[in-house]
Amino acid sequence: MNCLNTFFGNKVEKSVLSIILSVEKASILLNEKLLNGGSEIHGSTGNKNVQGEKVQKLDIIAHNLFEKEFRSNNNIHSVLSEEKEEIINLNNSGEYLIAMDPLDGSSNIDVNIPVGSIFSFFKNDAHSNSANEGFLRKGKEQSFAAYIIYGTATMFVIGINENVYGFTLNVKKEKYFLTHKNIIIPEEGLIFSINEGNNNGIDKEILNYLKYCKKLNNQGRRTHTARFIGSLVADFHRNMLKGGIFIYPNTADKPKGQLRLIYECNPIALIALYAKGKSLNKSEDILEVYPKNNHERTSFIVGSKRMVNQLMSFYKNEPN
Ligand code: AHG
Ligand code: MN
Ligand code: MN
Repeated sequence: MNCLNTFFGNKVEKSVLSIILSVEKASILLNEKLLNGGSEIHGSTGNKNVQGEKVQKLDIIAHNLFEKEFRSNNNIHSVLSEEKEEIINLNNSGEYLIAMDPLDGSSNIDVNIPVGSIFSFFKNDAHSNSANEGFLRKGKEQSFAAYIIYGTATMFVIGINENVYGFTLNVKKEKYFLTHKNIIIPEEGLIFSINEGNNNGIDKEILNYLKYCKKLNNQGRRTHTARFIGSLVADFHRNMLKGGIFIYPNTADKPKGQLRLIYECNPIALIALYAKGKSLNKSEDILEVYPKNNHERTSFIVGSKRMVNQLMSFYKNEPN
C-alpha cells in the first residue's frame, strides 16, 4: 500500500515532498490531541483573533503544531495563518509559501463533530520579493492545495498535478495510506449545504435556488437533501465524494461573506477544479479573484458542476 512518501516520492520535486511530509507529521500530532480530548483542547482561550472571532484553545494548538513543523523545513519561505495577523517569515530562500487555516470548524470542536485543516501552497517566485505581497495572488497560481479532515477517519486530501488523491490515516502506523485515487466530483448531485439561519439576509436568487432544491417530483418525493455540518472541510469533502453544492453567500451580517479567500476558499477551489467540480464567488471563478488583503472574506459557491450552473441560472434569469 502506498503511503504519502512512497506515492509522491517519484512524482513531485523533493521540496514538495518534504512539505507534504511536514503537513503529515503535524497533522498526526494534532489528530492525537483530538483523540485524547480533555480540557487542554476544549473551550475558548478568552481572546479574539484578527477577524474578531473567539479563539478556541484548539485553534492555537493547531496553529503552533503546524508552525513548529514548518519552521524546521527549509523549503518554506513564509506562512500566512488565519490565527496570525502578520505573515510569519521563515526562510528567505525557501521555495514555497503556505497559507493555512490550521483548524477549520472551531465551533464544532467541543461537540465532537468533524473539523479540518486547510493549506494553500504557492511557489515563491519573482513577484513575491516582499513577503507581504507574496500571498496576494490569484488562486489559480497555487502550486497545490490540501486539507486534512479529522472525521470518523482522518484523511489527507491533496490536489496536485491536476489530480485529487485521498489518503487515510493508519493511527498505529502513524502514516497516511492511499485510499482514494483520482477523486472526481459527480457532475450532478443531490445535496445542498447552506446555513439557512442566514436566509433573511441573502440574495433572492439563492433563495429561489433553494426553493428549486426543495421541490417535490411528480411522485411527491423530495428531489434533493440538505446537509450542513458547519466545517467547510467536512461539508466540502462529503459533497465532493457524493455530489452536492456548498453555498456560503454574502449575508446581512457579513456583507463580504464569511469564508476567507486565501486560506479557505482558494485551496478548496483548486481541489474542486482538479476533481472536475466548479467554484465561484457568485459572479466569477474564485480562482481568478485577485485578493486585496491577506485575510479577505468572500462569498463562496463550490461543488458539482451542474448544481453550480443551475444556481447561477437564477442570477441570469434563465427559465428553470
Ligand atoms: P473557522 O472555524 O476556521 O473560523 O471556519 C468556520 C467556517 C467554516 O468552516 C464553516 O463553513 C463556516 O465558518 C460556518 O459558519 P456559520 O457558523 O456562520 O454557519
Ligand atoms: Mn475555517
Ligand atoms: Mn480556523
